[in-house]
Amino acid sequence: MIDIANDSINRIKAEVINCKLCSLCTNRRNAVPGEGNSKAGIMFIGEAPGRNEDEKGRPFVGLAGKILDETLDKVGIVRSRIFVTNIVKCRPPGNRVPTEDERRVCKNYLEREISIVSPKIICILGRTAFESLLGGGSILGNRGKFIAKYGRLFFLTIHPAAIIYNNKLRYALEKDMQTLVMECRRLNIPI
Ligand code: URA
Ligand code: SF4
Repeated sequence: MIDIANDSINRIKAEVINCKLCSLCTNRRNAVPGEGNSKAGIMFIGEAPGRNEDEKGRPFVGLAGKILDETLDKVGIVRSRIFVTNIVKCRPPGNRVPTEDERRVCKNYLEREISIVSPKIICILGRTAFESLLGGGSILGNRGKFIAKYGRLFFLTIHPAAIIYNNKLRYALEKDMQTLVMECRRLNIPI
């Protein structure tokens, strides 16, 4: 059987890997397309690749990825069943926050990922994704909340990298992920 969703995700990956639409292509080692289950019920969206992701060409494989994986494990979400991606697909120099222009140019890939996977819930990880997808606001003031907008359901939590600088936030992230899991159970979303 032809798997159209998977084919389409692979096509985006190939385009991202060769993309030169913005200047972030000049400093990257590897572009980092979204990866995971192309029919996932939940999609996680971070900010941009860091050093490890740039080296490996895969999202959330460095320290922030380790924290994400540990948290998913703890609440019983299997990473291979979800889809993980970022607002921009190439690493900004020195891990600076991607500019508005870079986000705007790269957005076509994210929009296509969202429309192909068509997740029941989009989990926003941190400020940059919050700002880019929903206009932003205080992430600490809004974390743990669901927001219905543009015909989709978003869930807000902190970025796993925030825990590297403030270990107390680990419990906030875990608590939010538990909230997310409860909603998935209620809505019969496989995780
Ligand atoms: N931080 C992100 O936002 N995305 C990654 O892929 C890794 C770290
Ligand atoms: Fe292309 Fe996005 Fe990379 Fe810019 S960040 S070069 S738009 S894939």
